[in-house]
Amino acid sequence: MKQSVKLVAGNWKMNGLGASLDEVETLKAALAEEASACRVALCPPATLVERMAAICAGGPVEVGGQDCRAEASGAFTGDIAASMLKDAGATLVILGHSERRQGYGETNALVLAKAEAAVAAGLSPIICVGETLAQREAGQAVEVVREQVIHSLPLALAGQAFAVAYEPVWAIGTGLTPTLEQIEEVHRAVRAAMIERLGLGGAEQPILYGGSVKPDNARDILSTPEVGGALVGGASLKAADFLQIIRAA
Ligand code: 13P
Repeated sequence: MKQSVKLVAGNWKMNGLGASLDEVETLKAALAEEASACRVALCPPATLVERMAAICAGGPVEVGGQDCRAEASGAFTGDIAASMLKDAGATLVILGHSERRQGYGETNALVLAKAEAAVAAGLSPIICVGETLAQREAGQAVEVVREQVIHSLPLALAGQAFAVAYEPVWAIGTGLTPTLEQIEEVHRAVRAAMIERLGLGGAEQPILYGGSVKPDNARDILSTPEVGGALVGGASLKAADFLQIIRAA
């Protein structure tokens, strides 16, 4: 299957203050010296989106949010609308991360509604799916992930730019990763589910792998069939580490 250009995206999670933008300056300067073969994105906490987008304007690094509300506006204290992220300079938004599915009880239906809101606001969603350790040990990984893809992707995504990120919950922040065969097996199942859901609109958008991607395993993971990029947590916080992963793509 034809693959679109790879996307290496960093998820800073709840890390980063103004001083952390020095890392973005370092990343930007390095990428100005070397044309990277992949798309590069960083998703900082909401407080840094606007400042990071200003630093990255006109350069190769895209900026994204880490979540948005499904509603366009209203009395939702503490929440952020897709249009607000867009207004702050974001072009992407991570949705349905397992830390939100598990920590806030986000369902597939809610993730789908958020993805519709993101598309309506002109953002490209990165929709996360992934099985728990108990589900993998019960032999359910492929079926769990298929269900999440079918029920979290709105039909409105057909014809839009988006990505799906396969992030096994047990591999996030643990230093554990699936074997390359396991990653390929699930990515093929994600691709099949994307096509089942969206037809040709699900045939080419990248499927990212996320979960303990580091400089020393990035090349193997990124050259696995159907891996269209990476969603990187801890190793995206330091420009030097993130650059090594970008160079491996
Ligand atoms: P780590 O790379 O720190 O395991 O985090 C992965 C992740 O959750 C990215 O969204």
